[in-house]
Amino acid sequence: MKQVLILGQGGREHALARCFKKSPTISHVFVAPGNPGMKDVAQCVDLDIMDFNALISWIKSQCIDLVFVGPEAPLSAGVVDALEAHDIHVFGPRAASARIESSKSFAKSIMKKYHIPTAHYVDIKSLEEGLEALLKYPAPIVIKADGLMAGKGVVVAMSDEEAKDALHKMFSHSDVNHIVMEEYLEGEEFSLMAFVFEDVVIPCDVAKDYKRAYDNDQGPNTGGMGAYSPVPSIPQWAIDEAIEKIMKPMAKAMVSEGIAFKGILYGGMMLTKEGVKTIEFNVRFGDPETEVLCSRLITPLDQVIEKVLNKEHFELEFDSQFALGVVLASKGYPESYTKHHPIQGLDIIKCEVCHMGTGYNQGFITQGGRVLFVMDKAETLEEARLNVYNEIKNIQCEQLFYRTDIGLLKEKMYD
Ligand code: AMP
Ligand code: GLY
Repeated sequence: MKQVLILGQGGREHALARCFKKSPTISHVFVAPGNPGMKDVAQCVDLDIMDFNALISWIKSQCIDLVFVGPEAPLSAGVVDALEAHDIHVFGPRAASARIESSKSFAKSIMKKYHIPTAHYVDIKSLEEGLEALLKYPAPIVIKADGLMAGKGVVVAMSDEEAKDALHKMFSHSDVNHIVMEEYLEGEEFSLMAFVFEDVVIPCDVAKDYKRAYDNDQGPNTGGMGAYSPVPSIPQWAIDEAIEKIMKPMAKAMVSEGIAFKGILYGGMMLTKEGVKTIEFNVRFGDPETEVLCSRLITPLDQVIEKVLNKEHFELEFDSQFALGVVLASKGYPESYTKHHPIQGLDIIKCEVCHMGTGYNQGFITQGGRVLFVMDKAETLEEARLNVYNEIKNIQCEQLFYRTDIGLLKEKMYD
């Protein structure tokens, strides 16, 4: 029996904790720092996950068998390198390969070198350069800050005015001195995540995320406002294409570049009229895609990791049911919002709830931008959707909002 420690504190980590807890070979799940809503399955440990020395001494003292890293920040700061230097068994990429998420420009340069399908782009180092490039490549155009921005550093500009505004705003931000301007891709988005070790790529089923804050894909980009899996509108040929032309070549490219990957490789994909193209790579499980995938994953998570690290080729087993979930976020998110508002009704909810950002003060309170993820599994997407929206009505908190169109299918675009 093994003890696992998950680093992170959101809905993704709550779902991962549940998933590990289900495994017959896991005896105990710790999450650092976790959140009060996870106590149903895990023991929260009050550790700063960016303080690697503190992490190492705690892990050693508790005889932890496996560490799983949830969020991007400790990965790009080198938590895996630090833990491995102390012979700790950790699943996640080292800092050098985590750069494909933290630097959009680095990821684009690898895609270009290895002919991995993606949008055409230019690197921009100043406001003047950006404004000049806009004359050559007018809107629609996509502007991406080069750095970790929690999914909020991307502006899809449909007019030149919007693009100029985004350039001004990004270059006035103290953390931004480099951006990528790229071709606007039209099509249907999906998320493909895979367990990767060097050139071994074991893909999960696909999931769909909703990036914009409001209904009908309006409003600013967020970390994700809802998700479901599987995704019937994405045909199998497109999934195969994404695996064969994007995920496997990227894993191989990283081996060739001397930055072999170990961990979860997340491909943000767009199914366009010219085939599947990469929107971005992340180096960790997506949130909230993980919540819906974990509720469908049948193969025990720790066993998946062991097999991947042994370079075995195998297929993951997923429940054939549809999982769908909706994020309840603090009003104002992804910009500023207030915290510590009481949440009522959680005790009578019949669906699964992942805590994304709750605190506790005589009852659950809001603590983050994204607060709760309410989800259900059913034979059809429609049934899962109806169940979730029915249950959400029981949650009372004036400071929360949610999208009402998660899982509402639009017309199928491609066969
Ligand atoms: P990213 O952080 O790169 O995934 O971008 C956030 C969101 O912006 C994506 O999920 C897409 O919805 C949108 N986006 C990013 N790049 C493009 C692109 N080249 N064309 C169209 N939409 C994009
Ligand atoms: N939901 C998208 C992400 O985790 O980046």
